[in-house]
Amino acid sequence: MESEKTQCLLAQCDELNAQLSTLLSVASDLASELDFNALFPLIVKKITDMMKAERTSLYLLDPDQNELWTKVAEGIDTIRLPIGEGISGRVAQTGEILNVEDAWELPFFNREFDKRNNFRTRSVLCLPIKNHAGEKIGVLQVINKKGKPRFDAQDEWFCQGLAAQVGIALENSLLHDEMKLAFKKSIQTLAATVDAKHPLTAGHSRRVTDYSMKIAQKMGLPRRSQDNLYYAALLHDIGKIGISDAVLLKNGPFTPEERLEMNTHPAKTENILNNFYFPRALRRVPWIAACHHEKIDGTGYPRGLTEDQIPLESKIIAVSDVFDALTSLRDYPKYAFGKILDYKIVPIEKTVYILKKDVGSHFDPDVIEAFLSCLPEITFDTDNAR
Ligand SMILES: [Fe+2]
Ligand SMILES: [Fe+2]
Repeated sequence: MESEKTQCLLAQCDELNAQLSTLLSVASDLASELDFNALFPLIVKKITDMMKAERTSLYLLDPDQNELWTKVAEGIDTIRLPIGEGISGRVAQTGEILNVEDAWELPFFNREFDKRNNFRTRSVLCLPIKNHAGEKIGVLQVINKKGKPRFDAQDEWFCQGLAAQVGIALENSLLHDEMKLAFKKSIQTLAATVDAKHPLTAGHSRRVTDYSMKIAQKMGLPRRSQDNLYYAALLHDIGKIGISDAVLLKNGPFTPEERLEMNTHPAKTENILNNFYFPRALRRVPWIAACHHEKIDGTGYPRGLTEDQIPLESKIIAVSDVFDALTSLRDYPKYAFGKILDYKIVPIEKTVYILKKDVGSHFDPDVIEAFLSCLPEITFDTDNAR
């Protein structure tokens, strides 16, 4: 009898130990990661295993729509649920834990959902997820305890610990996403403002960015490099705000003095961007943007850099920039091979011919190869943008 009691206590101790280590591992996962889209499914799986349950769902609150939506849902497609409806909707509304043996006994449980999914919901443990300020931001729902009729007090304790961790991480993730979006929108607006100075260059930075990102994806550039390229491409011509209108808006070919003034814009771009605060992951943006008129044979400007001295991202912008300049309508002429080529839009075939001719002198061969392989997508975008 005594040894049976001891065995039982030892088993409880083991379970508590396992729950504590899950809590610790989830806490450390959450503390070390900001990409929660990848992390949350893993955490939900850990909860299901630890709780010896059949399914777990993590809902987020959408205050604008007054709805809950499934951030992670095991065994079902994404669903949206009005606040106050169903078990999760109730918990989101009241902020109270709900722990029941049979969901079908609850008057507000929608049995149709089970029937549609060929599933039988029995025991449910559902609890609110709150942020630092105690505001409800989501719901954690664990379904069907295996081997027992319902979830017990220890399960509640474990899930509350988890919900607290997830709440802090979710709030951080939401703040992080909001800050990223605010930063991206400000830069996009700034780039569009510079382009809008002249109707014929409107959209240039956005198009150069679109083409550059396609080339970068084709070349398999790492995520961080793509992020730096994105902002550098958007801002590569921001230095043009320091060029006089007489030169910038000139309708006709440049005099040598005007050409010299125009060619100061990459250095001006670098100066302006060096005064921006870029987060650590985006510190290369000013340098990449500054090098967009460098050529691999050293005849570019402002520094006359060669080959490996030029960042790969700048070489990508260089190709997209020339492609857009040739295939867009401008007041000033298009130059190729050191002379005035045309004032009109250059046809795609001729543009490709010009770009290919400058491989090894102006352009990097690998970048041109990637550009040519995504040309069908680029020309599709070009046709639709005009
Ligand atoms: Fe430029
Ligand atoms: Fe440009």
